[in-house]
Amino acid sequence: MTAPTPLIAGNWKMNGTSASLAEAQAIAEGVGDCPARVAICPPSILIHRMAQALAGGKVLVGGQDAHWDDAGAFTGDISGEMLADAGAKLVILGHSERREGYRETDEVVANKARAALRAGLEPIVCVGETLEQRKAGRALEVVTGQVRGSLPAELAGQTFSVAYEPVWAIGTGLTPTTPEIEEVHRAIRATLVELFGEHGKSAPILYGGSVKPGNAAEILHADEVGGALVGGASLKAADFLAIVRAV
Ligand code: 13P
Repeated sequence: MTAPTPLIAGNWKMNGTSASLAEAQAIAEGVGDCPARVAICPPSILIHRMAQALAGGKVLVGGQDAHWDDAGAFTGDISGEMLADAGAKLVILGHSERREGYRETDEVVANKARAALRAGLEPIVCVGETLEQRKAGRALEVVTGQVRGSLPAELAGQTFSVAYEPVWAIGTGLTPTTPEIEEVHRAIRATLVELFGEHGKSAPILYGGSVKPGNAAEILHADEVGGALVGGASLKAADFLAIVRAV
């Protein structure tokens, strides 16, 4: 089986207004014919305009979260169908900022992944250990447990990716060593194969957490690293493009 096509996705988190659409446009103009798939996940209120602005180009637009239900009395929430209707093709689910800040459990994330599939969205399911868990030697156990709990059986045969984001590396400038990243990515791959058989080899495993132009090439060429989920460095077209070009 050939290696999965790499995916470089920018997670803008709660950053960006209408003025930032120009940055997305600059990213779209700069990607050229790079071998990776490229996505930007802006705040949901920008998705529709960004998808229209980038329509027909290489850069896909994604959401940062979606509800587990298709519709109903959930004040403030957004469904997968709404994201897809606005032009999103992918959605980040189970980011540690949602697991920690909104108490999302593996079960919640799995239900969100089911809902995303119903809406025709490609899930990017995030997993990652805290510093305490790593220091206690539990990183592999925690991450593979999250993979088992957060990826529903319905993903079999579907296009999806897993993002390994060590919580302690997010927004801190700290990154695991390349052998540490490879160890976790290999464990995630083995778990995906356990869960989905041969299909488990086709999902890219992204690394996220302080990916910058200066470290992107080393990280992206590590074993079983199939792309990156980029936070801060995705907000500036020049930095994000440098990461895209490092594939
Ligand atoms: P940073 O790249 O800012 O560390 O954020 C990573 C992240 O959380 C992407 O989802």
